[in-house]
Order: sequence, then structure tokens, then C-alpha cells
Amino acid sequence: MLSGKRILLIIGGGIAAYKSLDLIRRLRERGAAVTPVLTRAGEEFVTPLSVAALAGEKCYRHLFDLTDEAEMGHIELSRAADLVVVAPATADLMAKMAGGHADDLASTLLMATDKKVLIAPAMNVRMWLHRATQRNIAMLRADDIRFVGPNEGDMACGEYGPGRMAEPLEIVAGIEAMMGDGPLQGRHVVVTSGPTHEPIDPVRYIANRSSGAQGTALARALRDLGARVTFVTGPASVPPPGGVEVVQIETARQMLDAVKTALPADAVICAAAVADWRVANASGSKMKKDGSGKAPALDFAENPDILATISQMKKGRPALVVGFAAETDDVVAHATTKRERKHCDWIVANDVRPATGIMGGTENAVTLISETGAEEWPRLPKDEVARGLAARIAAALGAGG
Ligand SMILES: Cc1cc2nc3c(=O)[nH]c(=O)nc-3n(C[C@H](O)[C@H](O)[C@H](O)COP(=O)(O)O)c2cc1C
Repeated sequence: MLSGKRILLIIGGGIAAYKSLDLIRRLRERGAAVTPVLTRAGEEFVTPLSVAALAGEKCYRHLFDLTDEAEMGHIELSRAADLVVVAPATADLMAKMAGGHADDLASTLLMATDKKVLIAPAMNVRMWLHRATQRNIAMLRADDIRFVGPNEGDMACGEYGPGRMAEPLEIVAGIEAMMGDGPLQGRHVVVTSGPTHEPIDPVRYIANRSSGAQGTALARALRDLGARVTFVTGPASVPPPGGVEVVQIETARQMLDAVKTALPADAVICAAAVADWRVANASGSKMKKDGSGKAPALDFAENPDILATISQMKKGRPALVVGFAAETDDVVAHATTKRERKHCDWIVANDVRPATGIMGGTENAVTLISETGAEEWPRLPKDEVARGLAARIAAALGAGG
């Protein structure tokens, strides 16, 4: 898929720069040519020699290097590639991009390019969560800069949280999705997935058995058709796919906020198993037995209805809003009523009685309910269901003719 493509790879000054050496290898294995650019800070982490040796090409470093300008000027360098990738994208590089700075070779190339840009952020969790970085992220998204990662996990600095650079193969998947000529190129799809956790107290929560497998497969299939996918996921047991923008949340209310923040989108696919109710009187400290034998009384409050909220947006409603209905009886009848009640376009209904093995399993048997009626699909692996749905979504959006 990447054969004959040229990637301009900008390596910023973060610990994760070592992963970019592997990224160069992975891209070349797939037939891509890599033009590497190393920032001044990047040179502190990997050497120009290693970068050039792995890329098999000169490593560009300085804006005012007359030899470079004689060989290939910075404007030409910014245009000669099919795609610009920044990995690791440091907080500083992202701030420069958001602010339109052009004070070194990397930032000047990013300002001068007429190509799409994919960034793989990597930084300490506090730097990622800092308001300034969050502001810059919002600006970059508005400028149609694509993101892959960051992932959540242990960091080189010893802290834990979001900010770890996506793995090289995840970045490759993101690049492939952007370089492909899939029918969903240029489209933005938001997918919700997994369960939500509704706290009872700081250590206990109410959850459900959703693994996130179907939503994850769907996000992957949409990505493979070229869509830019924002993947809003609860605490799922299946890892999120690479090459999509992952937003991790816990509660239904956080999920709704994340979906709204991700808009505008061409389609929103609500595959998450969202808790209908939360505990209204959740305790701020761990609840304890008091020896009386009396169980605590939990009061419930209804959660916001994400599917209905997005379906009934007065302004900026996505062209296609799809819900999933997990039912245990009268599947089609309940799902048909649900579609009408929520005003969504389609409902993907499935029978989640334990005997079906669907919830948490690898297969799914769905019925696609739209205004034209109910269409029963055979029992298939979740990946195949996802590919079928992604193709239908592309067709519904009129993508690719
Ligand atoms: C040991 C060390 C590790 C660093 N790791 C990161 C990092 O992972 N992400 C980041 O945004 N900045 C990191 N920094 C800070 C950047 O190197 C610094 O902001 C630099 O100016 C970024 O330059 P750039 O814009 O060329 O990437 C690190 C600094 C040091 C000394």
C-alpha cells in the first residue's frame, strides 16, 4: 500500500525518538521512501547518522544549510513528499504548529507544506494534560492535522497516563489509512465503544460485560476505508486499534462530552454499551460495613442518552447516526422502536442473551434496521460484520461514488 510513496518524517526532541528509527524500518519494509528531518533537540536523542543510515537518505537538519538549499530548498522539501509525519511530536513542536511558527527547519517545513500532516504526540502526562497543550490540540484538530495516539501507559519518566507515543506499527496503520484511496478518504467518523463505568464510591463501580470488540473492529474497518476515526472508548478489554484517534473515558457523561468535542463528523456510530443509570448518591470515600447488617441504599439517576442527543441535534447533526441495540428478547421489535424513539438513522440490533455467546465473544449476528426495514445478517466474525457495516456507511455517505 505504501509502495512508491514518500514520507517526510520529522523527528522531534523526545525520548520516543528511538521508536522513530524502527518506524523508518517499518515504512521502508512496506516500500515507502523516507526523507528524514531531525530537529536540534531530536539530535540529543538519536543521531543523524543512525537516521540517515536507516532511511538510506540524507538526514535534513538545518534551515540555513546552504548545501541543502542548493540541493533541495526547504519549500521543495516540504512539497516533495506525499505525507508529512511528525514522530515524536513534542509539546514544543505542537505549540509551534498551532502558533504558526517557522523558526527552524521542521516548523518551516510544516508551515510550507501543502500535504496532509499526521502527528504522533509523545510527552509526559502532565505536559499532555496541560491546558496549553490541550488548547494546541484543539487548534491542530481544527486545522485538520491528524493524530495517532498518544497511548496511555507507563512512561520513561516513571509516571503513568496518556502521553506515550503510539507504537511504530500503529503509526504505520495511520499512515496507510491516510495514503490509501479508500472511499472514506476525507470523511470523519466518530465511533463509541466498550462499557462505561459508573462509580459507586472511589473503588467500586457499576459496569457491563461489553468487551469493546465490535466497536474496535468497526473503527478498524472504517480506518481501512480511509476515514479519519475518533474512537471514544470506555474501559474495554480489547485494545484500541492503531491509526485512529483514541479518547478514553469512564462514565456515560464523559462519553457524551467526548463525542460532542469530536464533532463535526460525517457519521457517529454509537457501539458502546453505555450505562443507562448512574449512582446519584455515589460516595466520595470508600463505603464501609457498619456492623448493623444493613446494606447501603443506592439511588440511581438516568444518564444522558448519547444516541438520542446526537440524533436530535438541531445544528451540525452528522449525516449518519447509527446506534447499536443489545437486546435479550423481541430483538427486532425493540430495536425498531428504539430507532424511532431516538431519531437515529440505523440501529444495529443484536441478541445478547448469554446463550448466544455474542457479548464478549468473537462472533455477532446482527439485524440492520433502517427506515426501509429490518435486514437480518448471518452470524459472522465481528471483523466481517464490521467490514460489512463500514462498506454500508461508505455507501450511505455517498463516498467513493
Ligand atoms: C531527557 C528529556 C526528555 C524529553 N522528552 C520529551 C518528550 O517526550 N516530549 C516532549 O514534548 N518534550 C520532551 N522533552 C523536552 C523537549 O526536548 C524540549 O521541549 C525541546 O525544546 C523540544 O524540541 P523540538 O521542538 O525540536 O521537539 C525532553 C527533554 C529532556 C531533557
